[in-house]
Amino acid sequence: MGKIILVAGARPNFVKLAPLCEQFAKMDLDSLVVHTGQHYDHNMSQLFFEELNIPKPDINLGVGSSSHAQQTAEIMISFEKVCNDESPSLVVVFGDINSTIACALVAKKLGIQVAHVEAGLRSRDVGMPEEINRILTDHISDYLFTTTKYANENLENEGINRDKIFFVGNIMIDTLKKQLSHIKKSKIMHELGVKSKNFHLLTLHRPSNVDDEDNLVEILEQFRSPEFNCPVVFPVHPRTRNRIIDNKSIDVDSIGLNLIHPLGYNDFLNLQLNALSVWTDSGGIQEETTYLGVPCFTIRENTERPETIYLGTNTLVPDRTTPYTNYLKTINTKSDLPEIPLWDGNTGYRISKIIQKELKIR
Ligand code: UD1
Repeated sequence: MGKIILVAGARPNFVKLAPLCEQFAKMDLDSLVVHTGQHYDHNMSQLFFEELNIPKPDINLGVGSSSHAQQTAEIMISFEKVCNDESPSLVVVFGDINSTIACALVAKKLGIQVAHVEAGLRSRDVGMPEEINRILTDHISDYLFTTTKYANENLENEGINRDKIFFVGNIMIDTLKKQLSHIKKSKIMHELGVKSKNFHLLTLHRPSNVDDEDNLVEILEQFRSPEFNCPVVFPVHPRTRNRIIDNKSIDVDSIGLNLIHPLGYNDFLNLQLNALSVWTDSGGIQEETTYLGVPCFTIRENTERPETIYLGTNTLVPDRTTPYTNYLKTINTKSDLPEIPLWDGNTGYRISKIIQKELKIR
């Protein structure tokens, strides 16, 4: 069995990478980790490797930030050299970021097999760069590892051969379960001066919400209402911070938002666990709040994670002009959530076993 390259580039990728690194090491699979460098700030990258015990990347492509075309192209050029030097038999990519499609495309064109972890998610909104990355990556992958039955249905409806699709569950939940004791020990609420179930948590980074000045102002102004009568903690993604700094008309202090820097995994999950409600446009946070049973309001018109809506923890907030306070009245913390099939902490193990078996026989 040949070498396996695991590719990760941005914050949510690292959370999905950790369980596979652990399992690959246990099974003694010959692998190396390539970090594309898409995220590079300490809090967006290294901190996650430290907290989640991920080995230091073997190779860092150091691409950094730029336009979509430039970032994707730079990753491709650098990753092609890595593949030529290392001759892997499999490249594993995660999620839906630019690093995902860039490395999948390079590998496939060199005749190297590709595995996609978190395949089959669809928002049906190709205005989202992530939706383009998902569709393209799925259609060139040899192994598609899915989180839910909805993802399997999406892939089959697009004509992808069933033999390539493996329903393995949600690998982010592996990390969440493993870290739970560290998450509970975090002192972040004390540091911020907030109390459990007496604050709201906000994150925003989707280009559709933050790159357009008017949209960003409309969303942030929603939180000015006195009906948000407890603090709104807002760990700010660098993309959003730059937009807020650029926009002199936004005064986050007068809105009453508690702006803080991006947090590490344990601190951020501690805030999710203890928040009265979570307001976000992230994908992974919709899943984590569903697992934790915390009410989540997703500031988007659609979601690629419909199970989070059906289970009742997640609500789409598609309209920036309807008062968000209307949604506050619907907050109802779920305590008797049904188990979600295969969101059980063993997804990394299942994926590793399948890879081990498949690479031997194909
Ligand atoms: C990327 C992913 C998105 C994912 C998100 C998680 C794509 C198309 N988007 O979005 O799917 O949900 O990561 O966070 O791949 N920046 C820094 N420091 C960093 C990283 C970024 O300052 O360490 C700033 C730069 O100004 C950069 C901007 O953030 O231009 C956006 O970063 P980028 O990686 O292009 O996209 P994200 O918005 O992070």
